[in-house]
Amino acid sequence: MSEISARTESFYGAAVGRRVTMRDLAQATLRGERWPMITAYDAITAGIFDEAGIPALLVGDSAAMVVYGHDSTLPVTVDELVPLVRAVVRGSSRAVVIADLPFGSYQESVAQALRTAATFMKDGGAHAVKLEGGAFVLPQVEALAAAGIPVIGHLGLTPQSVNLFGGYRVQGRGESGESLLRDAKAMEAAGACAVVLEVVPAELAARVSDMLTIPTIGIGAGPSTDAQVIVWQDLVGLTAGPAPRFVKRYADLRTTMSEAVGSWAADVSSGAYPADEHAYA
Ligand code: KIV
Repeated sequence: MSEISARTESFYGAAVGRRVTMRDLAQATLRGERWPMITAYDAITAGIFDEAGIPALLVGDSAAMVVYGHDSTLPVTVDELVPLVRAVVRGSSRAVVIADLPFGSYQESVAQALRTAATFMKDGGAHAVKLEGGAFVLPQVEALAAAGIPVIGHLGLTPQSVNLFGGYRVQGRGESGESLLRDAKAMEAAGACAVVLEVVPAELAARVSDMLTIPTIGIGAGPSTDAQVIVWQDLVGLTAGPAPRFVKRYADLRTTMSEAVGSWAADVSSGAYPADEHAYA
């Protein structure tokens, strides 16, 4: 890369040397560019995704399940997520890093939401936050945005409400679609910089995306959202068991890793590893 192109080459509107911002991504959406967001929970994978050109890394509360082994997102705490955010920020240099506010860390009050978001930004180095819910969290969204914190809303199948929903089911069918539309509009008016739409009918997601100026980020929301987000372990086939309908597996890393570890274990047992070339004189 020449010195001039190194200085001028832009990545979603961010000149080389600075990170993408949520504002850059909003402008990309206004230009009609679709963009990807992926979860990350550690420095190595954050670095891989950053180098692959992913402009937005979400340290999701899905860490509760894929990092900490819980069967829902509810148990994970701010103290458990902050170090993951720090690692993702350290491991990346171009992407905007978004911290998910975990269950119980923002619903109580505006003051609690501000405190939690500030912790993720000051201690974790996050550049934006995300929270779940509709009308109930609008005061929080408004206060965070007013405090200068880019905040992403999350509507539809919000996993922190799994107990209310009675399982991981499609949301927004029929009448409830109208209330999701109202919530999305209110989120934008309250100052949200983007809205995640999770597991909602594709037609509803298309209506929301047409209606809003801010980016919609879909997961199981069909092809019409402005951006897509995915849990990386689902994308590369690391997650065990059947995947939800919206997951397209681009690799089978579970088999690849299992075979690699099995071969290494067999070599250890047989004495084939370590060989002379792996030893020091
Ligand atoms: O926690 C998470 O990973 C998420 C995405 C699936 C949107 O919220």
